[in-house]
Amino acid sequence: MAGRIVPATETGIAEAARLVRGGELAAFPTETVYGLGGDATDERAVARIFEAKGRPRFNPLIVHVPDLAAAERLALFDDRARAAARQFWPGPLTLVLKRRAESGLSLLASAGLDTVALRVPAHPVAQALLRAAGRPVAAPSANRSGRVSPTTAAHVAAELGDRTAVILDGGPTQIGLESAVLDLSGGTPILLRPGGVTLEELAARLGPVAAVETDPAAPRSPGQLASHYAPALPLRLNATEARPGEALLAFGGGRAPGSAAAMWLSRDGDLAEAAANLFAMLRALDQPEFSAIAVMPIPERGLGRAINDRLRRAAAPRPG
Ligand code: TXA
Ligand code: MG
Repeated sequence: MAGRIVPATETGIAEAARLVRGGELAAFPTETVYGLGGDATDERAVARIFEAKGRPRFNPLIVHVPDLAAAERLALFDDRARAAARQFWPGPLTLVLKRRAESGLSLLASAGLDTVALRVPAHPVAQALLRAAGRPVAAPSANRSGRVSPTTAAHVAAELGDRTAVILDGGPTQIGLESAVLDLSGGTPILLRPGGVTLEELAARLGPVAAVETDPAAPRSPGQLASHYAPALPLRLNATEARPGEALLAFGGGRAPGSAAAMWLSRDGDLAEAAANLFAMLRALDQPEFSAIAVMPIPERGLGRAINDRLRRAAAPRPG
């Protein structure tokens, strides 16, 4: 029974919602990556999420709701937060806000902080699940902690299949990278994690946004640990060609320099296409026959910032 992949039909969604209401976990697609969902008001369900992922308990979860009205019941929105929500929800933006004392949310979900991360996903399956569940759903990406995020139901089954009651299959996710995490709990808005909404888009609509140094050695958000999104093989960044034994993750036109085993993030240099391909290609190239994955340079603009953030963490020294 555990980890059954079911099509995201009305029946499948209703079943997943029933399981969530009963304190079980259900994996589901969003427009960014697949999430591992549990009732955010149920301390035991949230504890199960941490356990399933092997996630450190100081790293808080994103709470998903169907709309702004539901979000306003959980956190304090000022005009600035409401403007951000109106501009970017539903969509790949997570807002960190002061949580309401009477929110009813599990304390573990926000790891004991007085803030909570809220997101209104745009994916129709996620929307339908949230409405059917009728309660906020805590959902980190549905991968083991520190590993590559899942963009298909099969990725979830491979890593967490025995840890989740059901996996709703909505096909490959469209964006392929996690939401941008924007902290609006203090003075200047701070982009804690670059993601599906770009820094440029945020600044154009909201005014000045401080981008946290994406220095993996100095995490600002509890989740921005040095090593993350990591395949088993080492990564070698800004490669101009593959060395003998390496697989190559290529970007842009031309012939794959030096490697028989190459996959293209995007041949046209399209950053949205590259983002959508990134995690699936890292998984596909992560084979013991190679010594490393060499990755060609990606421009540091638009979605390229989020891609480079994930690549730097995937390449960072591993703990232990
Ligand atoms: O696209 C996404 O955001 C996906 C889908 C499933 O919605 N979810 C996701 O969740 O990526 P997760 O748990 O893998 O990443 C949550 C990020 C972490 O970096 C965490 O530290 C940060 O959000 N976060 C959560 N609550 C926070 C808080 N109260 N303050 C600061 N950062 C927070
Ligand atoms: Mg994650």
